[in-house]
Amino acid sequence: MCSSSPRLWFLTDRRIKDDYPQQEILRALKAKCCEEDLEFRALLMDDVVLTIEQGNLGLRVNGELISAYPQVVVVRVPTPWVQSDSDITVLRHLEKMGCRLMNRPQAILNCVNKFWTFQELAGHGVPLPDTFSYGGHENFAKMIDEAEVLEFPMVVKNTRGHRGKAVFLARDKHHLADLSHLIRHEAPYLFQKYVQESHGRDVRVIVIGGRMLCTPENHIINTYHICHSFGDA
Ligand SMILES: Nc1ncnc2c1ncn2[C@@H]1O[C@H](COP(=O)(O)OP(=O)(O)O)[C@@H](O)[C@H]1O
Ligand SMILES: [Mg+2]
Repeated sequence: MCSSSPRLWFLTDRRIKDDYPQQEILRALKAKCCEEDLEFRALLMDDVVLTIEQGNLGLRVNGELISAYPQVVVVRVPTPWVQSDSDITVLRHLEKMGCRLMNRPQAILNCVNKFWTFQELAGHGVPLPDTFSYGGHENFAKMIDEAEVLEFPMVVKNTRGHRGKAVFLARDKHHLADLSHLIRHEAPYLFQKYVQESHGRDVRVIVIGGRMLCTPENHIINTYHICHSFGDA
């Protein structure tokens, strides 16, 4: 392979590198890069040192000064634990150096908080169930009256929740008030109109180039989500 081959990097996090999706992505990227004569490199967030010297952005990987930057970086970071001050900083650095990132830091941030995702979707005209949230810390209690217009049963979610772990179904106003005492308030919650057709379903829509390709569902996982999270309430 000549040194002027286009370069592609796969960047992930130590905590998820051995998980099945990352292993599969790594295997597929390696095979494709070999086939297409692309220079491939896999690295971890922990390997990277970011530099700004004489006003120029630079990078060291495990002590090696990088002079040939990748055109494309495929990024896999654990969204629930993404840190703006470390993970996003690395991605911003690469983007500002001219690398094309998949996914871009802004796209990752849009998914870090469920309400941020809804703000984005609403801004792009995607139909959504009515959803409320609040400002300030620990203001869940004031929503017991404010969110009543969404009617009961009402879906209540931690904006930072994942894998259905902090999604509750409030039967009525008393139940909502009880929830306020039961839950941890480390991140704000959102309050959402209950969609009967969505109960027990987990629909993942894959859109490529503006076209919806498929909507795979996983009923086993969903049933667990609903029982586990709604049951926890
Ligand atoms: N508004 C809603 N109405 C009815 N069911 C819902 C609603 N929102 C979520 N659910 C159910 O709860 C599950 C988990 O919610 P979701 O928002 O996907 O949280 P997570 O990101 O933790 O998976 C969904 O797969 C769906 O079955
Ligand atoms: Mg989900």
